[in-house]
Amino acid sequence: MKTLIHNIAVLATPVGQKAACGMSQGEINILHDAYILLEDDRILEVGEGSAPSVGPEIQRIDACGRLVTPGLVDAHTHLVFGGWREHELALKRRGVPYLEILAQGGGILSTVKMTREATEEELVEKASKVLKEMLALGVTTCEAKSGYGLDEATELKQLRAIRELGKRQPVELVPTYLGAHAVPKEYKEDREAYMELMEALLPKIAEEKLAEFCDVFCETGVFTPDESERILLAAQKHGLRSKIHSDEIDAIGGTNVAGKIRAASAEHLIAITPEGISALAEGGTVAVLLPATSFYLNKPYAPARAMIEAGVPVALASDFNPGSCPGFNLQLVMNLGCWKVNMSPEEVLTAVTLNAAAACGRAERIGSVEAGKQADLVIWDAPNLEYIFYRFGENLANTVIKNGKIQYTKG
Ligand code: NIG
Ligand code: FE
Repeated sequence: MKTLIHNIAVLATPVGQKAACGMSQGEINILHDAYILLEDDRILEVGEGSAPSVGPEIQRIDACGRLVTPGLVDAHTHLVFGGWREHELALKRRGVPYLEILAQGGGILSTVKMTREATEEELVEKASKVLKEMLALGVTTCEAKSGYGLDEATELKQLRAIRELGKRQPVELVPTYLGAHAVPKEYKEDREAYMELMEALLPKIAEEKLAEFCDVFCETGVFTPDESERILLAAQKHGLRSKIHSDEIDAIGGTNVAGKIRAASAEHLIAITPEGISALAEGGTVAVLLPATSFYLNKPYAPARAMIEAGVPVALASDFNPGSCPGFNLQLVMNLGCWKVNMSPEEVLTAVTLNAAAACGRAERIGSVEAGKQADLVIWDAPNLEYIFYRFGENLANTVIKNGKIQYTKG
């Protein structure tokens, strides 16, 4: 079935099938008075000026003089978890460091306890509500990590919950195995045994196709660069591409590992060094920055300008999780990208579409509005691109189209 989206005041989109880096990150396509012709779930044609004359059998969507962009891609979330952690609020407000809360058995480890106690169905129902709201905010693809199980049964339960969520609702999920998120209490005295346990899970995950990526939290007191490299290389042997949480608090070398092993992405990067930036540029690794986490932990923002100047493709994502970022509003992340990370609106748009898609291994299929790509689109309550960066705090998505179908509309 064909669908014509017409009366688009501005169509703003990056172009290409791979991450955009350097100057090209900000060189997006802006079409005025545009139209998009879809065939089923694909984009058939994009143009400016008068729309092709189509017969009555073709469905028409009137964009009513609004802005249209690609569907947003949230490239870093910890979507599936049990409980919340509002009891940490006072500690955090008193300035107790994130890593100290973790070392005391709180933080990630308290979410592990609640996630182990939840059933798969409870996890699915909880995350479904989040995905419904994410979709309404314009998110059409979302990466989702395990990492709150830290034992075989619960890591698999989280990954199976992600698979189930992918079947039950329209947002496409990108599953990531994050067994190396923390060392659980029961292995505190025997890290080697925990490393072996995580590695032993890899063939099962590969066999059931439960994850596309493997991720590690490489940080002081969590996993070392050597341990990170070991688990990521073991996962690569099972077909899982690499991601890494690095330089969130301390630059201990995880970013260098990312470049060396040609990871798809390195994430956080608040404390990245010039050496780390070169490693990412050489490895063709996407830098996924998480400014809402900087906001929430009262930390500096990652040095995006230095990365862009060095030719590193930059993506922005939410990091939605119950500890360091209990919010998933990617529109707010876009505002922070513009106002705190010092990226232009055009660079931010690329960061939450094409470059985020590249971080998720999907840049050939999604992340831009071009003939041949999947029809994932947002029609905004905005007349131009600047407007969605100028306003903040409200949902400015008007209509969200996934795979050629309207999945959300404000009406
Ligand atoms: O990306 N930094 C490590 N992991 C998460 C936080 C997880 C948590 O606190 O529960 C993050 O910020
Ligand atoms: Fe994270």
